[in-house]
Amino acid sequence: MSFDSLFRQISPEEIPDDAFTLAGKVFPVITAGRTEHYNAMVGSGGGFGVLFRKPVAWCIMRADRYTLELIERERIYTMSYFSDEYRERAMFLGSKSGRGSDKMTQVELTAARTPDGNIAFAEARLIVECSLLQVTVPSVDDFCTQQARDYINEACKEKGHYRKYLFGEIVRVWMKNG
Ligand SMILES: Cc1cc2nc3c(=O)[nH]c(=O)nc-3n(C[C@H](O)[C@H](O)[C@H](O)COP(=O)(O)O)c2cc1C
Repeated sequence: MSFDSLFRQISPEEIPDDAFTLAGKVFPVITAGRTEHYNAMVGSGGGFGVLFRKPVAWCIMRADRYTLELIERERIYTMSYFSDEYRERAMFLGSKSGRGSDKMTQVELTAARTPDGNIAFAEARLIVECSLLQVTVPSVDDFCTQQARDYINEACKEKGHYRKYLFGEIVRVWMKNG
């Protein structure tokens, strides 16, 4: 089935779920890569808002994620949200890295190319396409509570485990038809 027959475009304001549920309970599958070569991982945290008068989505990625490498290269990515029915299949993408594994051929989800040529998944109920706006690495001094400092210090202990904060302009949003 074509992408257009599966999904209809909506505006960011029409996203029916609240940001807390999407970021904290549903968890997006974040996918980068426009060619045959693409990669996806599960994210948590982050959210939606407005930056430089643009609708944006933000997320936090460990610096060594392969998906992050592709996002920084392509500067475009998608966030796919699934109903409970597909949760287990989606979570598989958070179980191992695509760097040096063939998880993208093993995952039981169907890659779907958006009209702009970005990869998302046909089983998703909501897809948010983002254009990379900003990648920033906070320093420990930027955090104001001991709990946050402890978290970020712990995260930075191992090489490549520091976190990058990504802000992407939401360029299109797609809802599953029906
Ligand atoms: C529920 C869940 C939430 C996750 N949230 C994040 C996250 O916010 N940031 C992150 O860097 N990794 C997160 N991960 C871990 C990555 O999805 C996982 O390490 C993945 O294998 C990375 O794949 P990649 O190296 O192919 O990009 C999460 C995993 C799960 C299961």
